[in-house]
Amino acid sequence: MEHTKVLRVDSRRPGLGAIRLAADTIRRGGLVAFPTETVYGLGADALNVSAVERLFVAKQRPLDNPPIVHVSGRKDVSKLVKSVPKSAERLMSQFWPGPLTLIFERSEIVPDVTVASLNTVALRMPRNNVALALIKESSCPLAAPSANLAGRPSPTMAEHVLADLDGRIDVILDGGSTMVGVESTVLDLTVNPPQVLRPGGVSFEVLVRAIRDVKLGEFAGGEKVLRDGATRSPGMKYRHYSPNARVIVVEGDIESIKRRVVDLAEAERSIGKRVGILASDETAACYRRFLVKSAGSRSELEEVARNLFRLLREFDAERVDVIVAEGFPTNGLGLAVMNRLRKAAGDGVVRLN
Ligand code: TXA
Ligand code: MG
Repeated sequence: MEHTKVLRVDSRRPGLGAIRLAADTIRRGGLVAFPTETVYGLGADALNVSAVERLFVAKQRPLDNPPIVHVSGRKDVSKLVKSVPKSAERLMSQFWPGPLTLIFERSEIVPDVTVASLNTVALRMPRNNVALALIKESSCPLAAPSANLAGRPSPTMAEHVLADLDGRIDVILDGGSTMVGVESTVLDLTVNPPQVLRPGGVSFEVLVRAIRDVKLGEFAGGEKVLRDGATRSPGMKYRHYSPNARVIVVEGDIESIKRRVVDLAEAERSIGKRVGILASDETAACYRRFLVKSAGSRSELEEVARNLFRLLREFDAERVDVIVAEGFPTNGLGLAVMNRLRKAAGDGVVRLN
C-alpha cells in the first residue's frame, strides 16, 4: 500500500464511522494500528493466515516471535484455548480489561503463524474503548504486536506509529497518548507455578497478592539478556526497545549514579559524541551542562513508565549518539521500566556497588 490513513478518534467515546472503516479493513485482511492502555498495537485478524503474515512483514518481525491475541471479553477466550484453568478465571475477572496477558494452551482454530507454531497462545483484553470497539466491530480476535518496527521502542502515540510504519499499514486510529506506557505483563499459566515472562503494566507485587504462588521468569527482570537458544517467551531473545542511539544504563545508589552519569557523559562528549541524559525530576538539575530529559519522579514509577518510550524516541529525533540513563528502582512499574532499559542497553549496563 502507498498511503496510510490516519483517523482521529475520541479515546473514550470513539465515533462509529472511524471504527467501521477500520473494522472493514481488518475483515478484508488489512492492518490497523490502534491505541490500547499500554502502547499502540498493530492489529490483524488473528484467524486469517495471510493477514497475520502481512503483519510480520510490515513490522519486519521474525516469524518465531508470536503476537498477543486481543479479545473483547472473556466469552471470546473459550474457542481460542483448550481449557480455562481456575486460576485464569480468577485473574481475568480481577485484571481484565487491563494490562495482563495470559498464556493458555491453544485450540485448533488458531493458525500456526499466529502462534509461531507453539502449542500455546497469548491472550489479553485491553482497557481502551477504541481497542474494544475495533475488536467487537471486526467480529474476530486481533493479533496485535506493538505497532513499531521490530526492535524499536514501542509506540505510545500515533506519531510514533507513523514514523515507523507509514506506507506499510492501512490505517492508524489516533486516540492520543497511551496511559500506561509500557506493555502488558505476560503471565504463563501453562507451567506450575505460573511464571511472569515479561514484566509490564500489572506489577509483580500486585500479581503476588492475587495468586501468591507465582515466579518471576529468569529473563523477566532483564538482568539476563538471552542472545540465542530456546526460551519460553520467544520475544525475549531479540534486542528490543532500542532507539538508534547507543544506550548506557547506570544502576546503583543515587549519589553514585549521579557521579558516574556525569563521568560517562563527559567522556562521550570529549570524543565528539552527542550525549543525551535520561534522568529524573530529583536529579535533572545536576546535568544542566548536557541535553537532559526527566522521565518523572523516582517515587512516581508509573509516570516514568508512561514517559519512557516517548523520551527514547525524542533523543533519536534530536540526533543523539549516546543516551546515558539513570537506573530506576525495580519496585512496582519500575521492574518493567528497568527490563526495557536493560534490553535497550544490551551490554551497556553499568552496576555500581
Ligand atoms: O501491551 C501489550 O502487550 C502490547 C499491546 C499492543 O497489547 N502488545 C505487545 O505485543 O507488546 P508484542 O507482540 O510486542 O509482545 C508480545 C510478547 C512477546 O514477548 C512474545 O514473545 C510474547 O508476548 N508471547 C506471545 N505469544 C506467546 C506464547 N504463546 N508464549 C510465550 N510468550 C508469548
Ligand atoms: Mg513489541
